[in-house]
Amino acid sequence: MTQHQRLLIIDFGSQVTQLIARRLRELNVYCEIHPYQNVTDAFLADFAPQAIIFSGGPDSVTREGSPRPPQSAYTLGVPILGICYGQQVMMQDLGGRVEAGQSHTAEFGRAYVTPAGHLPLLEGWFDEGREQVWMSHGDHVSKIAPGFEVYGTSPGAPFAITADVSRNFYAVQFHPEVHHTPRGAKLYENFVRLAGFTGDWTMAGYRQQAIEQIRAQVGDAHVICGLSGGVDSSVTAILLHEAIGEQLTCVFVDHGLLRLGEAEQVVSMFRDNYNIKLIAADESDLFLGALEGVSDPEVKRKTIGKLFIDVFQKYANEIENAEFLAQGTLYPDVIESVSFSGGPSVTIKSHHNVGGLPEKMGLKLVEPLRELFKDEVRALGRELGLPQSFIGRHPFPGPGLAIRCPGEITREKLEILRKADTVYIDQIRKHGLYDDIWQAFVAILPVRTVGVMGDGRTYDYACALRAVTSVDGMTADYYPFSHDFLGETATRIINEVKGINRVTYDITSKPPGTIEWE
Ligand code: XMP
Repeated sequence: MTQHQRLLIIDFGSQVTQLIARRLRELNVYCEIHPYQNVTDAFLADFAPQAIIFSGGPDSVTREGSPRPPQSAYTLGVPILGICYGQQVMMQDLGGRVEAGQSHTAEFGRAYVTPAGHLPLLEGWFDEGREQVWMSHGDHVSKIAPGFEVYGTSPGAPFAITADVSRNFYAVQFHPEVHHTPRGAKLYENFVRLAGFTGDWTMAGYRQQAIEQIRAQVGDAHVICGLSGGVDSSVTAILLHEAIGEQLTCVFVDHGLLRLGEAEQVVSMFRDNYNIKLIAADESDLFLGALEGVSDPEVKRKTIGKLFIDVFQKYANEIENAEFLAQGTLYPDVIESVSFSGGPSVTIKSHHNVGGLPEKMGLKLVEPLRELFKDEVRALGRELGLPQSFIGRHPFPGPGLAIRCPGEITREKLEILRKADTVYIDQIRKHGLYDDIWQAFVAILPVRTVGVMGDGRTYDYACALRAVTSVDGMTADYYPFSHDFLGETATRIINEVKGINRVTYDITSKPPGTIEWE
């Protein structure tokens, strides 16, 4: 089996740990983030990293019982890079001293580091005499550990960059992974080069390895895969098909809450281009029937989620020898579920997925994307030959139009919404804006307003246009359309869509809003 070189990031709870992983993946280095609690001596020996990074974190190493890596990390003989809290941990563990925050030594925000010696880690740095970095620390190192030397200083951090070259241990007080350390990526590049990484994490390699792993996991059993038409489930299905061919059956459930022509597009994309066994189930009457009279967002979500599982199970039961369920779980979902704080504490919305199904049906999970970020899934999709028009599609939520129709859902409203959404997306494409926007859609509002068209009075629905930019859907900002675009779009919707006589534009960011209306 192909095996890539692996780097381990031990997470001490920094908000930006994921960015370290991003920087490394951009260098074609494979890495995994694990919360410090999980990284035991045995874990470390088993993981066999070629290098380790200690992340930043909110705690103070001066506090008794504060997070630590296993001490065997220091004797594995592999390079270590400590960042912020990670630097302080390293200093403390190896015989230096850290002092708790005092206002004159704390540093938050932009700072400048100047060189204090030559270090291969810093190659390509300090060409202009100093480097801008992002600091965020209350505590500071007051004595460096034996064996370490200072290679960079800032006004608030005399030990901003230290290293023990003989052991390949590096420790920096600032955060090289963030945007505000403009040339921070160079430090990661130098670190992985010093650690002997060859950049073997490519999509072609990943595809091959994933296929081998799927085959080894599944054997000759059958796998079922729920298709939503989104990028993640499509890439999962195609990868599985490449790995196990006839042993895969996909199930596409049309819950009657899809956009105009969507079910046909998804089914024909799979039927015409791939020889994948596909069950396309029209269950719209069931879902819309159950949603009649329901206007509470959580009740809608739960109703849809439960029915989805029932329906999926009904079709899955017809598949002989089904032992596995494939899911397009991505890396951010995996991190969230084992996060430092123990996962999200507040349920804002009950997200729709096929969770609960594997236990209920006694199925085992196949999750071939669980090591990937969204843009890596898109790259894998390209590698697998999925058309760009499909790969670049905006995300679409599992509960579909139900959560874009606040209040009671009726077939009439869904019909109006589909038409308005089609015009809006057409406008966005015509103006060449589709790829600049993370997600755009129309929500039909539970309110009718008075208008005048021709010489007559109208009393029709109002709708809201939504368009946001985002990197991961966790935070978002509204898209700054020009007034000309908004005016033209509103006119088209009102003229072309019977049932809408007023158009508004939603300019709420997330937080405090969410992307969807429900
Ligand atoms: P919110 O509305 O929470 O949405 O800001 C963030 C992103 O998640 C999508 N979304 C969902 N996706 N099942 C999904 O598969 C869901 O239940 C769900 N709810 C929201 C939303 O479209 C946006 O991209």
